[in-house]
Amino acid sequence: MSGFSADWLALREPYDLRARNPAVLDAVTASFKTRPFVHVVDLACGTGSTLRALSPRLPARQNWKLIDNDLDLLAIATAMPLASDISAKAIPLDLNRDLDAALDGTVDLVATSALLDLVSDRWLERLAAAVAARSIPLYAALSYDGRTAFTPSDPLDAAITAAVNVHQRTDKGFGPALGPAAAGVAIARFEALGYSVVHGFSDWTMGPDDRDMQAEILEGWASAAHDTAALSPADCTAWLARRRDAIAAGRSSLKVGHVDFFATPSATR
Ligand SMILES: C[S@@+](CC[C@H](N)C(=O)[O-])C[C@H]1O[C@@H](n2cnc3c(N)ncnc32)[C@H](O)[C@@H]1O
Repeated sequence: MSGFSADWLALREPYDLRARNPAVLDAVTASFKTRPFVHVVDLACGTGSTLRALSPRLPARQNWKLIDNDLDLLAIATAMPLASDISAKAIPLDLNRDLDAALDGTVDLVATSALLDLVSDRWLERLAAAVAARSIPLYAALSYDGRTAFTPSDPLDAAITAAVNVHQRTDKGFGPALGPAAAGVAIARFEALGYSVVHGFSDWTMGPDDRDMQAEILEGWASAAHDTAALSPADCTAWLARRRDAIAAGRSSLKVGHVDFFATPSATR
């Protein structure tokens, strides 16, 4: 168990799919369009959201290595039906410990989503160095970037967001997490390694009908803010109650900032 439940990943997947930046996806597609076969490694695949989002945009013949340290999520990822020319294999690994093993063998593309904001600067440096040493492109989607927008506004929104962004930087198993800084740091790192990077926003947008998703996010944020002790427990509870009232009244909208990028080495193998 990783703490990322299959239910949460299922709830967020449609929002992720809608949010994925189309220009970044187009760049991935264009980069592989003349290839007869693509070998993809999906780092921290969860239940396979990236495979479902990306495989229709790649050449028909694909081989995926699905890496995660959560066996339950991997079991779901490999149970899904695939097109006949696509094969996928689950590889249980702790990416903090076994990054090199994850990149073993033939790899044409490293893909990941909703991972980089969990990792430390040090781990990101290892990833970038390992990927660049192999001259592999990297598609990294849905890194939270710290931006939020709430409707209706509440006097505590800014304080809650600030506390959430502090909480995002705590250790998630890879050392102190980059949190909202992750995409910016990663893009700069790949550019410094001579990669070209296409990037863009991939924000979650939720309207009044997106009650379950908003409720889940806001509950998590109230809990994270509480853990930081930046606000009093009473303030966290009252903020969540007001936001829940707005959801129940059909008046709540929420935007959560993310960034996608596709980094390609100057001469792709
Ligand atoms: C936010 S979820 C994203 C899952 C999937 N990529 C998606 O977009 O739905 C983060 C994933 O990272 C995995 N993870 C966290 N720490 C890990 C580690 N040390 N090694 C391998 N996977 C890890 C979790 O099990 C989880 O599946």
